[in-house]
Amino acid sequence: MPIVIITGGSRGIGASAALACAERGMGVVLTFNANPGAAEKVVERIRQQGGRATAVKLDVADNASFPAFRDDVARQLERVWNTDRFDFLVNNAGFGQFNPIVSVTEDEFDALYRVHLKGPFFLTQILLPLMADGGHIVNIGSATTRVATSGVAPYAAFKGGLEVLSRYMAKEFGDRRIRANSIAPGAIRTDLGGGLNEEFEALLAGQTALGRIGEPDDVGAMIASLLGDDNRWINAQNIEVSGGYIV
Ligand SMILES: NC(=O)c1ccc[n+]([C@@H]2O[C@H](COP(=O)([O-])OP(=O)(O)OC[C@H]3O[C@@H](n4cnc5c(N)ncnc54)[C@H](OP(=O)(O)O)[C@@H]3O)[C@@H](O)[C@H]2O)c1
Repeated sequence: MPIVIITGGSRGIGASAALACAERGMGVVLTFNANPGAAEKVVERIRQQGGRATAVKLDVADNASFPAFRDDVARQLERVWNTDRFDFLVNNAGFGQFNPIVSVTEDEFDALYRVHLKGPFFLTQILLPLMADGGHIVNIGSATTRVATSGVAPYAAFKGGLEVLSRYMAKEFGDRRIRANSIAPGAIRTDLGGGLNEEFEALLAGQTALGRIGEPDDVGAMIASLLGDDNRWINAQNIEVSGGYIV
């Protein structure tokens, strides 16, 4: 059974990806930060559907906690799957914040940097020895790297960095047959940045070729299928999953 680690698997896109991966026969290690109850619900749903999953606490902003997280993951792999390896890593955890460049504070900038670029970089580095050769890393970017939408400049800039980092991961880990890709969701109905009000949702739907905003399952299913063997030759790519956002 291939095993996937999904950061931020307690809610939104990560929770949907966790369920979709389990439906396709993967074991799932999902992480939560502030919402253990939400994570436990996802684990329980996977178990009820006959799958195997476990939840581990992780704050992607706190690099100093990564060695303890790696040890936690190793214990869960041993306990639940009787193995010392996992196969896939989905760097998904994140948060949003609207603030125009003129009023972004250094603290806000640093918080976004830690979660969206520094965290995925060093988390991947520390987990790599536990990843099986032939594995796959999927970094969750954003369509805001292609289209400048107002108020999310630092977020989009770090997502752009993550997109570039994905290509370098593909290059440097290729000798272990590990692939790396990034996925760029468009506007998806989650709690990110406090969620969407009706007016903003209508605006975003009007800017999307398919005439609606996305649901978490529109992205979760794609993440699970990208990890599958049918997509084994996709590497070092950024794939937008947006229903055609501002085309
Ligand atoms: N929704 C969109 O329109 C959209 C568009 C483009 C890209 N994205 C990206 O998609 C990813 C998932 O977002 P979402 O929309 O699903 O958001 P969401 O519903 O708000 O879920 C965010 C997830 O990330 C976790 N998380 C937040 N801060 C964390 C931290 N410091 N350390 C560890 N985990 C943390 C949360 O865990 P807890 O709840 O346990 O704290 C939760 O599981 C993010 O990277 C986001 O930037 C979203």
